[in-house]
Amino acid sequence: MYAQLVDTGAKRVAAREELAPEDRAFQDRIDAGVKIEPKDPMPEAYRRTLIRQISQHAHSEIVGMLPEGNWITRAPTLKRKAILLAKVQDEGGHGLYLYSAAETLGVSRDQMIADLHAGKAKYSSIFNYPTLTWADVGCIGWLVDGAAIINQIPLCRCSYGPYARAMVRICKEESFHQRQGYDIMLALCRGAPEQKAMAQEAFNRWWWPALAMQGPPDKDSVHSAQSMAWRIKLFSNDELRQKWLDQTVPQAQFLGLEVPDPALRWNAETGHWEHGPIDWEEFYRVIKGDGPCNRDRLRTRVKAWEDGAWVREAAVAHAEKRAARAKAA
Ligand code: 3HC
Repeated sequence: MYAQLVDTGAKRVAAREELAPEDRAFQDRIDAGVKIEPKDPMPEAYRRTLIRQISQHAHSEIVGMLPEGNWITRAPTLKRKAILLAKVQDEGGHGLYLYSAAETLGVSRDQMIADLHAGKAKYSSIFNYPTLTWADVGCIGWLVDGAAIINQIPLCRCSYGPYARAMVRICKEESFHQRQGYDIMLALCRGAPEQKAMAQEAFNRWWWPALAMQGPPDKDSVHSAQSMAWRIKLFSNDELRQKWLDQTVPQAQFLGLEVPDPALRWNAETGHWEHGPIDWEEFYRVIKGDGPCNRDRLRTRVKAWEDGAWVREAAVAHAEKRAARAKAA
């Protein structure tokens, strides 16, 4: 149904008795809640699954800088501009922690970046949508970073030590990001009718992509079962989506915004909100590279990488000179 570009070798979850003794011992450590560290023995498919997920996550952070970066020069006040600058820088930092965590698994940063630029490694679907107005910046913080936190808080307890530790710091910053987004929306919704209309219009465009961004429904999620058995994922895509929906609908009501889903309803029996059908065809189209901004995002990343080549070369030359000087001394 979608192009799986990174084959991690994990086709299905093997029953305990099917596992080789070393894999059974590994699973026992996972089940006992032991953190796996870089030099510990691990199944090759576990290593590749982590590289796939962590590198996609890192790419999402740095590609995620682009839609909001688009508004740094046009933020409405000096204060909003300073906040947005700090937030976009934070996302770059998150990418760096995550690339470092992935490097502990034996893949180089150059290789990960090359895979992104070749269209071989994915990044989050959500960053392929445009930021047309200032309210889009509010929606990204509120809805997208809100969805990211719901996914990422559990990752602080995932089985791979370097990933879990990187997530602790990232989550602290993400919660500030979400609040700044909500604060933008609050200001717009309490403002002039034109500002409220701008907020509603942006909300209409971000609602469905944000609902889809936790990934395909559980029945179509190829990696979930194995990733949950290895405690790389602690909640399924649908569970994360439900948490986000239950958190976000009351927030939208407080803002006085209308959720653009005629089928949305509160189920008093389950105590959860229910949403209408998600357009999964659109989701798969976007993750296959055919969203509104995919080409533009990749082109911008590749150009930034090429423009920065001299900086990387200068850093290597400087390090070599220092090493040579130290050796001579
Ligand atoms: N966008 C792009 N691809 C997606 C996706 C999305 N929203 N959701 C799922 N996919 C891809 C998967 O990567 C997988 O493709 P692959 O086989 O080629 O790698 C395929 O769709 C099937 O999905 P699965 O459910 O089987 O995949 P996972 O088990 O990996 O679950 C996930 C997907 C929940 C996103 C999981 O990878 C995850 O939790 N990742 C870590 C968090 C992350 O990457 N978040 C991205 C957003 S970060 C962000 O918004 C922060 C902001 O501040 C910048």
